[in-house]
Amino acid sequence: MSIIWTTKTLYLAHSRSILLILIYLVICCCGWMPDTYTKIVNGIGKIKTTKFIGNSTHPDHFIVLYQDNTTVLLGGRNFVYNLSVFDFTERKDNKIEWTSLDPDSEICLLKGKSEDDCQNYIRILVPLPDNQILVCGTNSYKPLCRYYTAKNDEYVSVKDVDGRGTCPYDPEHNSTAVFSNGQLYSATVADFSGRYPLIYRDPQRTELSNLKQLNGPNFVSSIPFGEYVFFFYRETAVEYINCGKVIYSRVARVCKNDKGGPYQSADRWTSFLKTRLNCSVPGEYPFYFDEIQSTTDIISGKYGMEDDVKIIYGTLTTPSNAIGGSAICAYSMRDILAAFEGTFKHQETMNSNWLPIPEDKLPEERPGKCVRDSRVLPQNIVNFVKSHSLMENAVPAFFGKPILIRVSQEYRFTAITVEPQVETLTGDKYDILYVGTDDGRVLKVVNIATSSQAKAIVLSENVILPNNAPVKQLKIVPGSGNIIVVGRDEVRLANLNHCSQMQTCRDCIMLQDPHCAWDYHNAVCENIDNITSRLSFVQDIKHGDEERCRIPPSGNKKIPIYKNDAVNKITANTISEDGNGDGGDKSRNSKECEDAVESNEIPTGCAVQQRLVIAGTLHFVLFIACSLCLVFGFVAGYFISKRFQPQPQYPNSPFIEQHNHLDRLTPRANKSVNLNVPQNPPPKKDNLDVSKDLNIASDGTLQKIKKTYI
Ligand SMILES: *[C@@H]1O[C@H](CO)[C@@H](O)[C@H](O)[C@H]1NC(C)=O
Ligand SMILES: *[C@@H]1O[C@H](CO)[C@@H](O)[C@H](O)[C@H]1NC(C)=O
Ligand SMILES: *[C@@H]1O[C@H](CO)[C@@H](O)[C@H](O)[C@H]1NC(C)=O
Repeated sequence: MSIIWTTKTLYLAHSRSILLILIYLVICCCGWMPDTYTKIVNGIGKIKTTKFIGNSTHPDHFIVLYQDNTTVLLGGRNFVYNLSVFDFTERKDNKIEWTSLDPDSEICLLKGKSEDDCQNYIRILVPLPDNQILVCGTNSYKPLCRYYTAKNDEYVSVKDVDGRGTCPYDPEHNSTAVFSNGQLYSATVADFSGRYPLIYRDPQRTELSNLKQLNGPNFVSSIPFGEYVFFFYRETAVEYINCGKVIYSRVARVCKNDKGGPYQSADRWTSFLKTRLNCSVPGEYPFYFDEIQSTTDIISGKYGMEDDVKIIYGTLTTPSNAIGGSAICAYSMRDILAAFEGTFKHQETMNSNWLPIPEDKLPEERPGKCVRDSRVLPQNIVNFVKSHSLMENAVPAFFGKPILIRVSQEYRFTAITVEPQVETLTGDKYDILYVGTDDGRVLKVVNIATSSQAKAIVLSENVILPNNAPVKQLKIVPGSGNIIVVGRDEVRLANLNHCSQMQTCRDCIMLQDPHCAWDYHNAVCENIDNITSRLSFVQDIKHGDEERCRIPPSGNKKIPIYKNDAVNKITANTISEDGNGDGGDKSRNSKECEDAVESNEIPTGCAVQQRLVIAGTLHFVLFIACSLCLVFGFVAGYFISKRFQPQPQYPNSPFIEQHNHLDRLTPRANKSVNLNVPQNPPPKKDNLDVSKDLNIASDGTLQKIKKTYI
């Protein structure tokens, strides 16, 4: 009987959730429609690229270690490659070779790793004063760092230091490191098995098995800013205490001048705090993109009325087992700093909810802030920070929501990089974003958000890496339009300036690329980085309004906006559909189109104007279909919920969290086990400085923990 009951409940829960998901999807899909539009799609081979493939027989696990005006240094298998940033020619004489010593690779093989694993993958390179560089590699699962000095144009090894806690063991591990004020900050794992993540700067680090500090993190980036170093990553959300597992995106910070706590906490951070990053479509039940994949550097720009706003862009996605959704969210440093000045979160007992701590329950001195000498902090403050690293308030997305959302069965966003504040002819500035995907594409996106509207346009979508290889990293070569696209086994230099492909003024303007302007005299779409006089050029980034093509530019004179009537609109549409674009003299301008869309007028004219006749129709059909689904969904949902009313499945938890995680219907049991991982790990593996047998010892203990898990 009880089994039947359970099945029925389950079935009910499922059908309800599925319905909700359906309804939700329809809403989202309608809401997302405008973003699904790309102006130029270039298949594989359409974009000319220069390829670099280190060794062709084995995986290289490439990573850009360093880049300056002339040089890019790539970390690969047993080598640091030195390439020209302009044309990717390899400077073979400047290649640094560093292979693991035989004993190291033998032990690695003995421990059951493969031949490919037991190589030295270079992960970190830091230029130091006096012509020195610091290089760290996985060294056959025994991370090692090495100082080199330049002598007669050649780098010679000076000394080796232990790389554990600084450099990952596994070349695929999502680690990050950054050098600031003469010190190397890293976020990686501290042991062979990869179970003990840490944020480390000799000698301070996070606790090695405190799930409240780090819980299965995938680190994405680390950035010094002001008196802090920030770390961006995703991890299992400890504050999510319903059964099952949820990943949240985080930003954490430590103070650069943190000297550790008093006495036995000398090697622990006293300033490690973290909070959630909120990238969601607003609504009664916001839809979250919870898994951060990459961030840009911090840039400064003018957004809305405000000058010199510091922001950072990130790509965030849905979980890998969910419908493929990706988003670009921006965060302002001001909001991030504010979140860390806010309320702390607290969990009373293992199974209770996480709640904000009232102001009057805080220690007198504010915990976690940067102080002159953290070694003299009172013990209660140090302990408080250790057990309350999590802040209550998530960092809201700048612009209020994602600037771009993509729903695709084919790909998710991975890497992102930004060309900040590209100036147009009128002096307006726009950020151009390049976004990689996990199937080898690179999207070129321009952020045209205003203070009232979050919006970005996808200029082009280009397949750069063959065989659907994920894009791991993207770097810009400033001033050239070139970008460096890093895949696991190859790196490509690609130019994503499409100006010269645009044959007509209309195409050029409608591309809305801040780099491109139409030259009225010579009738070419020109890259504005190359032009000297601005007089004969036209551009319209915000609206892509081809009307501009009909009014010759004339110095500073303001270009009038053409007003038109309904009859003309129809003519324009017909003509455009005939493919005679330039005859479409009197089509509406984009501003009107936006208004039309906002006032629910059917936006056919707009779609046609954008030469997207097919896409426009599709959108329209989709819109109708969505509306129908929506109505149907609501009716069906209403009846079903009416019918099975008396079983409240999840009394108080918000729906979004249920629907994202249907697997959570499994019994609660494993939850508490998960949290029962010993809070005080055996001292040996806890101490980075301890002897060589650390790995083996920690393996031994890990076995036990593993058993507890199972
Ligand atoms: C890379 O090559 C350039 C040009 O030959 C050289 O100036 C530079 O020092 C090299 N860098 C490294 C780290 O080898
Ligand atoms: C690192 O991140 C990538 C991309 O999100 C993911 O596919 C991969 O599984 C992660 N690596 C590890 C070791 O978790
Ligand atoms: C995230 O932002 C959305 C929209 O601004 C808001 O509705 C939601 O409550 C926020 N979520 C969290 C956890 O702060």
